[in-house]
Amino acid sequence: MAPLKDNSVTDEKTYHNRRAFIKQSLRLGVGLSFALKAPWSLAEGVEGGDFDLISQSKYGGDLELHSYKEITNYNNFYEFGTGKRDPAKNAHTLKPKPWHISVSGECENKGEFDLEDFIAPYQLEERIYRLRCVEAWSMVIPWVGVPLAAVLKTFKPTSKAKYVVFKTLLDSEQMPGQKRPILDWPYLEGLTIGEAMNPLSILSVGLYGKVLPNQNGAPIRLIVPWKYGFKSIKSIVSIHFQANQPLNTWQAQAPSEYGFYANVNPDVDHPRWSQASERVIGRGGFFSPEKRQTELFNGYQEEVSHLYDGLDLARNF
Ligand code: MTE
Repeated sequence: MAPLKDNSVTDEKTYHNRRAFIKQSLRLGVGLSFALKAPWSLAEGVEGGDFDLISQSKYGGDLELHSYKEITNYNNFYEFGTGKRDPAKNAHTLKPKPWHISVSGECENKGEFDLEDFIAPYQLEERIYRLRCVEAWSMVIPWVGVPLAAVLKTFKPTSKAKYVVFKTLLDSEQMPGQKRPILDWPYLEGLTIGEAMNPLSILSVGLYGKVLPNQNGAPIRLIVPWKYGFKSIKSIVSIHFQANQPLNTWQAQAPSEYGFYANVNPDVDHPRWSQASERVIGRGGFFSPEKRQTELFNGYQEEVSHLYDGLDLARNF
């Protein structure tokens, strides 16, 4: 991970000012190189954010961001309770530093890595993605992360590596929700190797320019923006390459409701509710929440539909 700076927290207003400055500079054609020296330090010469160097990516620049408060107080993280406000209240027991990740299975370079070494070789990017939860709500989040493909290639997966499996920490002292058998712990998720190598997939270590808050999956989580939010597994300690399709946690829990692919799809309803539209968190009133039409693959059809050629998406949900 890039070197952390201690007392360098950027507030949200400053963050928005800096983004506006960057956008205007781009419109005016002012040269901003690809690898910007911390976008947060461009305006006002303010040092800020927890990371040294983050490049702006082309993803999601026009989406309206949710606030830091919304993003960090309305969460799904069952290891800290099943209520949306539970993780913000309870996740202080998680110790995200030091943190180790094991890499195993069908790859040449296996091992146990310290998170800092694990992330250090890669350029951090900002990716603004809409998180579309399977519960038919969404919010837009400015993630900081690294392309998953770049990380995975380092471990040289063999030709037998057809799937990549991720696991969350198993430690009921740090994650008290694991004392209750709500899910089959540890939380597990998988992707096909093609999905994992798609340029949209990232491993995230921060949001709004700051290190990931515990409730959002500190210190490292997956983001797969064309899939329902449950695929974006939090607090990852293990990455395993294998030949067979894994059984992910929610599929094991309720196979008629949650599949392996979990691609965002307005035409395939959840057995208990429609997926045609989504409630935009915090927008509109209590009695008239703002809704938007859900888009196939969450709007990334062009980038990912080829991954599913010949697959019946209604059966492979
Ligand atoms: N990862 C773990 N380990 N445990 C969880 O309960 N919930 C998932 C996903 N990752 C979950 C998880 C679900 S259902 C969603 S919608 C997203 O995290 C929510 O991410 P957020 O709280 O950062 O918005």
